[in-house]
Amino acid sequence: MYQILSKEMLTPTICRMDVKAPRVAVSAQPGQFLIVRPDEQGERIPLTISDFDPERGSVTIVTQQIGASTADINACEVGECFSDVVGPLGLPSEFVEMSPGKLAGMRYIFIAGGVGTAPVYPQAKWLHSRGVPVDVIIGAKTKDLLIYKEEMAAVCDNLFICTDDGSEGFHGMVTALLEKLVVQDGRKYTQAVAIGPMIMMKFTTLTAKKLGLPIIVSLNTLMVDGTGMCGACRVSVGGKTRFACVEGPEFDGYLVDFDEAMRRQGQYKAEEAAANEKHVCKIGRGK
Ligand code: NAD
Ligand code: FES
Repeated sequence: MYQILSKEMLTPTICRMDVKAPRVAVSAQPGQFLIVRPDEQGERIPLTISDFDPERGSVTIVTQQIGASTADINACEVGECFSDVVGPLGLPSEFVEMSPGKLAGMRYIFIAGGVGTAPVYPQAKWLHSRGVPVDVIIGAKTKDLLIYKEEMAAVCDNLFICTDDGSEGFHGMVTALLEKLVVQDGRKYTQAVAIGPMIMMKFTTLTAKKLGLPIIVSLNTLMVDGTGMCGACRVSVGGKTRFACVEGPEFDGYLVDFDEAMRRQGQYKAEEAAANEKHVCKIGRGK
C-alpha cells in the first residue's frame, strides 16, 4: 500500500500529494509518469511525476479533479493509502541521456499550460541543477489557477507568467508570449518543451515551427495498462503508429498528429460524463 504523506490543495480542484513509493522514487527520471489506482475497484489513472525524493522514498503527484476517478484520488487524506502506484513508466526526457558536451550548448524554454505546469517542474529542476539555461512560461486562464510559481522561480533563470484574462502577467495565451519573447525581446533558445492541454500543445507547436524552434511535447493520451499491450495510448507521429506509454510520452511536436490525438482523447466523453453523474466517492472509509 502506498501511503499519502502530505496533501495540499493548490486550487479548489488541483491537489498535490507526496506518496510513499520507495521503489518508484529511486528510479524515477524527469518526463516519466505513474499509474495510480486509488482503491481496488478503481480506474487506473496516468499521472506525470511532479517530483521525486529517493532518500525519503516519495513521489509527488498533482491531480486535477476532472472526473470520478480523479475525484477519488483528491478525496484521499494524509495517512490513507492508494492500492497501486505503478511506475516509473515511459521514457525519461531526451536531455537525461544527452552527453555533457551537447547539454552545454542547450538553451531551453518550457511552455507550461495550466495543470501541465507540475510535470515541467522536475525537468526544469534537473536542467537548472546542471547549469543549463532554462526559461519557463506558465499560462493559466486566470491568476487563481496559476500553480508552482514560487517552486518554478527557484529552478529557472527567467519565469514568465501569462493569463488569458490578464489578471496576472502578460495578457494572452502562452503562444503569444512565446512569440513576443523570441521576436520582440530577441531571446534565443535551442529547444522548446510544451506540456499542457493537447490543444495548447498543438498551437504552441505551430508557433514554434513559425519561429524555427524545435519543440518536444508530452502527450497525455488515454492509457490503460501503460505497458504497450492495450493500444489505448496509440498516436500517429511522423505517419507511424506509436504507443505513448512505452515510446513516449514525449515526442517531437512537429511530427505529432494532434487532431487525431484530440479525437481519440475525446472518444469516451459520454461514458465519462455518465460515470461522473453516478459517482459515489469510495475513498476514506477506514482504509
Ligand atoms: P487551460 O485550458 O486552462 O490552459 C492553460 C493554458 O494553455 C492557457 O492559459 C493558455 O495559455 C494555453 N492554451 C490553452 N488553449 C490554447 C490554445 N488553443 N492556443 C494557445 N494556448 C492555449 O489548462 P487546464 O485546464 O489546466 O488543462 C487541463 C488539461 O491539461 C487536461 O486536459 C489535462 O489532461 C492536461 N494535462 C496534460 C499534461 C501533459 O502531460 N501533457 C499534464 C497534466 C495535465
Ligand atoms: Fe496500453 Fe499504452 S496504455 S498500450
